[in-house]
Amino acid sequence: MSSTHFGFESVDERDKARRVRGVFDSVAPRYDLMNDLMSLGLHRAWKAYTLLVSGARAGDRVLDIAGGTGDLALAFAKKVGSTGTVVHTDINEAMLRTGRDRLLDAGVVLPTLVCDAEKLPFESGSFDLVSVAFGLRNMTHKDLALAEMARVLKPRGKLLVLEFSKVAQPLRKAYDWYSFNVLPQLGRLVAGDSASYRYLAESIRMHPDQQELKALMGRSGFGHVDYHNMTGGVVALHVGIKC
Ligand SMILES: C[S@@+](CC[C@H](N)C(=O)[O-])C[C@H]1O[C@@H](n2cnc3c(N)ncnc32)[C@H](O)[C@@H]1O
Repeated sequence: MSSTHFGFESVDERDKARRVRGVFDSVAPRYDLMNDLMSLGLHRAWKAYTLLVSGARAGDRVLDIAGGTGDLALAFAKKVGSTGTVVHTDINEAMLRTGRDRLLDAGVVLPTLVCDAEKLPFESGSFDLVSVAFGLRNMTHKDLALAEMARVLKPRGKLLVLEFSKVAQPLRKAYDWYSFNVLPQLGRLVAGDSASYRYLAESIRMHPDQQELKALMGRSGFGHVDYHNMTGGVVALHVGIKC
């Protein structure tokens, strides 16, 4: 029996996905509001930058993994236009349903699919771009998920991993105070759930830092990997090219 981490807790590998599902089932209804409050709206800029770096063009085929409430899927849909395709996916039905409703309200209909990033139900070489925003951190076997992302990309296709990362030293003390004091309180007040936001803070600390993730992507089928720090390393965008 192998163990892994769920935040700072050590749990049976088979239990992690269930625990993660519990977090997102609980936060789905207030997810977008909490994102804006927690990041003071910065997540919009991080996602806009991701879109810019993606170089998405009309006609591209894009897969958004762990797409949740659909911010990136919607932005990609506008870029690729009617000749392109964006597939909006997530392992969690509550998150995906919230996202699908939002997209429909915006007049956008996308193929939407519940699926696990570790076992993608797509043929090899089917996409020009794959994105995963704030999702990789929650996956049990990040190496398997990254290898699956490489598999479904076309040769020279691009993977964008937007994720919390390791902050620059001068920001660390304030960031830790904010993460372990303010976030759970905000979660309790706005979403009625402090534990899920404590998990958020803990899972960020357990996630590979910029260099470790770059190396992991290199071992998972991406011949060229680079990263861009944002907001002092609070978030990093890793870009991998399948080659
Ligand atoms: C923090 S949300 C991010 C949502 C959205 N991408 C965003 O940037 O706002 C993380 C998402 O990862 C999804 N997730 C976790 N493990 C997953 C897996 N193994 N496969 C696919 N999605 C997963 C969760 O269900 C959740 O919707």
